[in-house]
Amino acid sequence: MTTPQRFPAYSFPKGFLWGTATSAHQVEGHNTRNNWHQWEQEHGRILDGSTSGRACGWWEGHWREDLDRAAVAGQNAHRCSLEWSRLQPAPETWDDDAIAFYRALLEGMHARGLCPLVTLHHYTDPQWFADEGGWLGRRAVQRFRAYATGVIERFGDLCVDWCTFNEPNALVLQSYVGGYYPPGKRNILLALCAAVHIARAHTTAFEVIHHIAPEARVGIVVLHYDIQPLYPQRKGNVRLIGMIARLVNDFFADAVIRGQFPAFLPFPSRDLRPGALDFYGLNYYTGVELGWTPWRKRHLGFSFRYPPEAPRSPSGLVAHYPEGFRRVLDHVAGYGVPVIITENGIDDADDRLRPRYIVEHLREAAAAISRGMRIEGYFHWSLVDNFEWEKGWTHHFGLWEMDPETLVRRERASARLYADICHANGFTDGIAHEHEAMLRVAE
Ligand code: BGC
Repeated sequence: MTTPQRFPAYSFPKGFLWGTATSAHQVEGHNTRNNWHQWEQEHGRILDGSTSGRACGWWEGHWREDLDRAAVAGQNAHRCSLEWSRLQPAPETWDDDAIAFYRALLEGMHARGLCPLVTLHHYTDPQWFADEGGWLGRRAVQRFRAYATGVIERFGDLCVDWCTFNEPNALVLQSYVGGYYPPGKRNILLALCAAVHIARAHTTAFEVIHHIAPEARVGIVVLHYDIQPLYPQRKGNVRLIGMIARLVNDFFADAVIRGQFPAFLPFPSRDLRPGALDFYGLNYYTGVELGWTPWRKRHLGFSFRYPPEAPRSPSGLVAHYPEGFRRVLDHVAGYGVPVIITENGIDDADDRLRPRYIVEHLREAAAAISRGMRIEGYFHWSLVDNFEWEKGWTHHFGLWEMDPETLVRRERASARLYADICHANGFTDGIAHEHEAMLRVAE
């Protein structure tokens, strides 16, 4: 009977949201009007040379079977995103088929008892927007405001909780520093400019959504890493890494909760205002240790590793590190706003680590709630294997696995574990016994 001690029980408050998260471009397929479509056609951009193609077939109607499974599995909410380039194929044009599709999708969620949490922007830009300069363009903020206005006018009756942007911090790092996402730049100043525009776009969308739908709630979703110094004995390093962690993790919270850009940036905070959000969307996957050795030329002297004791996912992308989640939760609790855990998950085709990953990350969430943090829900990434951006079809985050050739789905064992947790609104000794074998495999 070691399992219940190793994996003790915990529970969540009544009304807790249980769901999974998906994003339009990763599941819909046939998305041809955005900057990712262009990017996928360029040689060498996607690890396995694949494209999003039919993705998970949601545009063809497969969303129905996926949401059926989510509902049967005890989930009461789903986080999806809208594809801006479908809704606005040109700046002043709204597409009737896309409107009908998303209305059916949101109505389909309600019909299945899944409360929608809708993201307006999950990484992809319409190609026309990219051609105008994307997030560096002069009209970027006003374009996003027009989009948000049109969305809330057309779908405001079907959704209360809205996320403006998904992970704008990861987006600007990948697009303007790492160069892995379109437009593939490597320039930190461009990244900061894009971040400033996105913070302003969020703020104006927050205002317009509230103006049209006063009962709506608006948040932003940010990716948090637990960033620790690789060389804790070097004081300069510790200070520098602390500053980087703050910039990477807190830039958007500072901008939209406190209404301030970091003091070193020459951007006026006048288009910002404090309190421009109703909830904070927290994405957490892993922790990293970061160090700086100025005499090394590669990567500007920066090096990083995962916490050595943390088991890694098969691809090495995610380290199972719930301690980092605890620190991140305590940090985000300090923002003093309601929080929704909008993503958390691991790429694990064989489902060896995922069961323990789910149980131990949820344990940290439950513990944070008992320390007084207001967490309203948890959305596992993801419902079904999907197109993993520059990694193509090589990474498997789904509770259900999917063959991208046939679109046939198959349940992974952790889908059953997660279902039991959702049904019980927590993790019980009974669930620990039931899934003992698979929780032990990962030890
Ligand atoms: C993104 C998802 C992505 C997931 C796994 C998140 O940061 O929002 O789109 O699939 O990470 O890498």
